[in-house]
Amino acid sequence: MDAQSLDFHPTSLYLGAVLHLNPGSMKPPRKLHIKSYGCQMNVYDAQRMVDTLAPEGFVETASAEDADLVILNTCHIREKASEKVYSELGRLRVAKDEAAREGRTMQIAVAGCVAQAEGEEIVRRAPVVDVVVGPQSYHHLPELLKRAGDEGRAIETEFPAEDKFGFLAQPKPDAIRARGISAFVTVQEGCDKFCTFCVVPYTRGAEVSRPVAKILDDVKRLADNGVRELTLIGQNVNAYHGEGPDGKSWPLGKLLERLAQVPGIARLRYSTSHPRDVDDSLIAAHRDLDSLMPFVHLPVQSGSDRILAAMNRKHTADDYRRVIDRFRTARQGIAFSSDFIVGFPGETEQDFRATLALVAQIGYAAAYSFKYSARPGTPAADMQETVSPAEMDQRLERLQELIDSQQSAFNKAAIGTTVDVLFERAARNAGQIVGRTAYLQPAHVIASADIVGQILPVRIGSLERYSLLGELVTQHPAHAPALSPIATGA
Ligand code: 5AD
Ligand code: SF4
Repeated sequence: MDAQSLDFHPTSLYLGAVLHLNPGSMKPPRKLHIKSYGCQMNVYDAQRMVDTLAPEGFVETASAEDADLVILNTCHIREKASEKVYSELGRLRVAKDEAAREGRTMQIAVAGCVAQAEGEEIVRRAPVVDVVVGPQSYHHLPELLKRAGDEGRAIETEFPAEDKFGFLAQPKPDAIRARGISAFVTVQEGCDKFCTFCVVPYTRGAEVSRPVAKILDDVKRLADNGVRELTLIGQNVNAYHGEGPDGKSWPLGKLLERLAQVPGIARLRYSTSHPRDVDDSLIAAHRDLDSLMPFVHLPVQSGSDRILAAMNRKHTADDYRRVIDRFRTARQGIAFSSDFIVGFPGETEQDFRATLALVAQIGYAAAYSFKYSARPGTPAADMQETVSPAEMDQRLERLQELIDSQQSAFNKAAIGTTVDVLFERAARNAGQIVGRTAYLQPAHVIASADIVGQILPVRIGSLERYSLLGELVTQHPAHAPALSPIATGA
């Protein structure tokens, strides 16, 4: 997918040690631990689950062991991601037994795309699970937990007809503030593209776009509570076609143009896009909107037309090159990231070289590459696998070497230049504040915390691994303290 975007690598996150307690609620506090794997959509969904459970008295805790409820928000995109949930459930079984010995009840819920795809199979493999809930049903969580408490177990993986976006709780102002100045907003969900390797059309269902007015309400609330940067997310975000206030269907470019006018919103991004859905409105948005960041995640998967056809991508490598050219003509300095799959069934050395040639020609600022993983129920799972595991490893290594060299050249090119950085938070190293450039590169400066939320020019002095180190140009360089090498953790 284009779906799973920039930071696809499994992440687990603790959404912030904030008491999201509803003051009106008399429910006793219970501890919730939520662990998310996979894409940005899962990060967003985890936040919505926290917001939905807050009125039930749930407050977040950083440790699974002392939680009353543990939710694993899972990813099904590749076998490796999917299997992680079972090893985690093995660990949680021990924690649940320990809780029972202490006279506490711990409920365990599996959410996300593994829940959707495997349903009851999860409780067969891991009877420790109390609730299985698919991504379309998070607003039913309180009721499912109660049902599991009464009946021992609850499973819900339907695609209900009701609008789940309309039912999900919205974050309270303190929750928005605790999550920082950069926020995700789902504008679209699901995918109708049916790439032959991909589970998303089955786990997330058909493409649905949210109406502009609802997105605008969310965005205004975020902006009123300090959010400066928005990333619009969707499995196929540029297929967006939500209903506008004029009753017409709005494309993503028009939505971006409207959101750019919301006071306080300084940066806009969107993820993840499909090359075939790049239309004139999106190109115009990149041409006209200063706040739309010149960094686009545009997965291509392969550079071989034969493989692209077998993947049902419905575009050729040349179509993709032309789309990139349109972006480059519209916006100076625009940069790209992408996703690639190596070892798709039937991929020959020649096909793979076409991928390397495409990467060499485009020149990426970053990219993610994956070994093909057959997913049950997808058309490609019925295709004969022709690339041996050793060959897959070797192709992945060759591709990653090329991508790494491009990424490090791109990052090094920032040294000696002055770039705008949106500051996000205090870094781990005392005295340092970390922010991001337009290209999502972490940038560290020594400054006081009151620059958080501001976009300021930074003179980049050096690069350490993937982080840029620099100084605010508003300081007098001669008097600014020298920035020593750091263990970056942005
Ligand atoms: N095998 C390997 N990689 C996959 N992706 C999606 N499905 C598979 C699969 N079956 C990759 C694609 C997609 C990214 C999020 O994950 O490159 O863009
Ligand atoms: Fe992206 Fe294709 Fe999967 Fe849709 S089916 S989410 S376009 S990879």
